[in-house]
Amino acid sequence: MAARKRASTNSSSSTQTKPSDREPPKTQEAAAEAPISAPKSGVILKLTALFSVPYFYLVLYHYKIEQELRNSILINAALSLAAFFVTVKMIPVASRYVLRRNLFGYDINKKGTPQGTIKVPESLGIVVGIVFLVFSILFQYFNFTADSNWLVEYNAALASICFMVLLGFVDDVLDVPWRVKLILPSIAALPLLMAYAGHTTIIIPKPLVPYVGLEVWDLGWMYKLYMGLLAVFCTNSINIHAGLNGLEVGQTVVIASAILIHNIMQIGASVDFEYKMAHAFSIYLAQPLLATSLALFSYNWYPSSAFVGDTYTYFAGMTMAVVGILGHFSETLLIFFLPQVLNFLLSLPQLAGIIPCPRHRLPRFDPETGLLTGTNDGTLVNLFLRQFGRMTEKKLCVYLLVFQALACCFCFLLRYFLAGWYK
Ligand code: UD1
Ligand code: MG
Repeated sequence: MAARKRASTNSSSSTQTKPSDREPPKTQEAAAEAPISAPKSGVILKLTALFSVPYFYLVLYHYKIEQELRNSILINAALSLAAFFVTVKMIPVASRYVLRRNLFGYDINKKGTPQGTIKVPESLGIVVGIVFLVFSILFQYFNFTADSNWLVEYNAALASICFMVLLGFVDDVLDVPWRVKLILPSIAALPLLMAYAGHTTIIIPKPLVPYVGLEVWDLGWMYKLYMGLLAVFCTNSINIHAGLNGLEVGQTVVIASAILIHNIMQIGASVDFEYKMAHAFSIYLAQPLLATSLALFSYNWYPSSAFVGDTYTYFAGMTMAVVGILGHFSETLLIFFLPQVLNFLLSLPQLAGIIPCPRHRLPRFDPETGLLTGTNDGTLVNLFLRQFGRMTEKKLCVYLLVFQALACCFCFLLRYFLAGWYK
């Protein structure tokens, strides 16, 4: 995508370049140096309170968790809080730098209004990715429950996430064709796949045991293939459920919150040390993911003063895939991803090339009324507009995020009702 934006230095290549070409150079420079709007602290405070109260109640009071493990979780939470503030501070700084290098996007759902002519800095996911990695690496120093086997995988997981941030940024700058985009996550997943020494077995659901004739099935190398495919799915499914202010980060915030609640419930209910460690390590990655994403959300929520870029969508998808793999709850993760699965199924005809796929599969914006109308492109965004009628971008995003939260609640209910019967 950024190649399109970088082409803004080449006046003949894009219609998007026209407004900037007409501006005198001094005005362009001034626009690039102008600070972006302040973070939307009110939204972040409400979201943080909504999540933190039940989460810390579970961590501190509800469950009896060993003191060492609880300390590690709390230290990780404190580091995540620091990571939040660093990200909030760094995004305006990075915005100036990316704008100077012509990495920006126009807000398509505001086309025809003055807001649609503003250059919105792109790829701010790079700040989130770097801050996340720095704090996750620092955390290893404080992890009281350190266990060398886990550290190998933890570092391999960080290497995969780092590789994904790099490839996401490459995509933002070079605008690679989407078929190549599909492959990038499988390359980034290699460090984790190669270092993974955990079990490669799956537990067969109880109702299927008589048919399969096995209770536990060792998939061997196929398990690694499954891990790779999960990484490809999680990254791309977040990236294509996008295009509304706040949607890319919002869905990650909801899923990461659900992952954290799930992990703490599993730790609280289990007595098996290995099992608890698997979920603890998921927490150590999901907490900083949530905190840094919330910081980005404060700029990306409607009206966006920063765009996240494929750097962020790939980073978030890969981190959640890794968390699901190391925590051994990939089935649960896929139910948290229900809207993304639906969006992927709706997208299949266009992704497979059966129906033409335009560069952007976004709704139609009417600058007169400020409302969005669904198009025939196969996305959940368009499906919602067709079902619920025309609405504003903000309202549509809230609807989609509520749907994401409902999918997570559905997953918790399903786990509750199927416990003991399914596995
Ligand atoms: C994916 C989708 C594409 C969708 C795009 C939106 C597929 C196959 N691809 O492409 O249909 O249009 O994401 O992100 O489904 N933008 C906005 N408002 C926002 C966020 C983004 O207008 O809230 C626009 C901006 O111009 C921004 C651009 O989308 O620069 C970023 O698009 P990019 O992430 O490059 O698109 P893809 O991931 O390739
Ligand atoms: Mg994208």
